[in-house]
Amino acid sequence: MTPIQVFNNNIVLIAFMGAGKTTISDYLNTLFAMDVIEMDQIIAEREGMSISDIFAEHGEQYFRDAETNLLIEMQSRKNTVISCGGGVPLREVNVVEMRKNGKVVLLTATPETILERVKDDHNRPLIENNKTVEFIADLMEKRREKYEAAADIIIVTDGKSKLEICEELVQRLLEEDK
Ligand code: S3P
Repeated sequence: MTPIQVFNNNIVLIAFMGAGKTTISDYLNTLFAMDVIEMDQIIAEREGMSISDIFAEHGEQYFRDAETNLLIEMQSRKNTVISCGGGVPLREVNVVEMRKNGKVVLLTATPETILERVKDDHNRPLIENNKTVEFIADLMEKRREKYEAAADIIIVTDGKSKLEICEELVQRLLEEDK
């Protein structure tokens, strides 16, 4: 079956760690046969090591540069969901790149929801030793302004199923496409 292209633009998903970018990307792939670019996964594959090891061996700056380079590289793609690592919207140049060929969708979740989703994962160096609601809430608040400024659409995910989130996302994107 030939996939139907539903949206004119790529979908660029941004969110705090653990807010559901991967789940929603996978579901958009299932629903609309969109390609998915999971930025963290590609960077880890190319470097041949986990995100935690990249941070430990090369430092955060190196990882952030890899993110920017990958985003620039992705701009030629069509019908693609680009699932960004949580730090991507913090650099102004990244936001400029995202907007060139995509609609930027911010998924939000409360710190409590985030903690529940990340507590058993050990590949997020920025929160590995700080898995508390207070730390997450504080980091989220520091980032909130930049996340919101980057977004074309904001979707609250707490208490919603992936189907409900995708329905809302599709509806909002189609309105934007009009
Ligand atoms: C980061 C988020 C992570 C990963 C890295 C840094 C961040 O991605 O890129 O650990 O600064 O928020 P996810 O948001 O996919 O967990």
